[in-house]
Amino acid sequence: MSLPNEKPDLEESINVTEAHGVAVRDAAACAREKRIVDNGIAPISLWALVACGVVLLIAGGILGDAGHWFSYGTLFRENYVRTPAGGAEDTGPLPKEALAAYMAKGSKIYSAKCNGCHGSDGKGNGSTFPSLAGTPWPNGETERFAMIILNGLQGPVHDGITYGVMPPQGIGMTPEDLAGIMTYVRSSFGNTKGDVITLDMAKAAIEISAARKNAGNSVTAEELSADHLKDLPGEKLDPKTLLDPITLAPAKAP
Ligand code: HEC
Repeated sequence: MSLPNEKPDLEESINVTEAHGVAVRDAAACAREKRIVDNGIAPISLWALVACGVVLLIAGGILGDAGHWFSYGTLFRENYVRTPAGGAEDTGPLPKEALAAYMAKGSKIYSAKCNGCHGSDGKGNGSTFPSLAGTPWPNGETERFAMIILNGLQGPVHDGITYGVMPPQGIGMTPEDLAGIMTYVRSSFGNTKGDVITLDMAKAAIEISAARKNAGNSVTAEELSADHLKDLPGEKLDPKTLLDPITLAPAKAP
């Protein structure tokens, strides 16, 4: 059907034929969509998706826990102790040469036990207490020296003079104390023996002292020359041996 040409559309921008075509196409599209819904191929419901998510979450939790899927055990071994970094071990005090280590111990015991009479310089007082500096008994045979310390001394001493009576010092004295004092005196006050009286020797001295005939009495010059004019038995030690300064045991190689 054709419209008379002399009465044109007032709105010339609208092309009726085209608009009609659009309307027909849209309608067809609507009809097509509707048909898909009818076929049952509609997009899955959002609620169904959420429900699936929840189910997966719970199932994952249960199965994962049972099967140790998320267990840290595979990454961290039980009772694992980390090996300390090199150089971080407790190596204890620095080792000291035997002579220095024994002297350090001995100097303390000397201060506590001998200082009061023989003086901090070991020189005595020239009248009631004899000198230990450069004199033959502390610097001579070690058994004689040990017997004087442990039992005290009476009567004339090395120079024939009687200074007084030295009371016994051995009560409560450990082998370590005795070894320390003897080593200290023999290398102090100008004395230059430089040897170490070992714990072993000191132990022997304590035994010898306990076995004396007149145990309990201070020794005399006669007894010393008769019975104790010798060096103590026992293991010797190179004064340069490295020791643990606390225990006096040989130091472990660094
Ligand atoms: C209470 C004072 C006193 C104390 C403490 C003492 N002494 Fe003596 N010591 C003497 C007297 C006194 C004599 C001299 C004894 C005599 O005349 O017979 C002597 C003598 C000695 C002698 C012999 C000296 C010589 O020239 O022949 C030695 C070695 C000695 N003492 C070492 C020591 C040592 C080491 C200690 C510490 C463990 C010590 N004494 C603690 C008073 C003391």
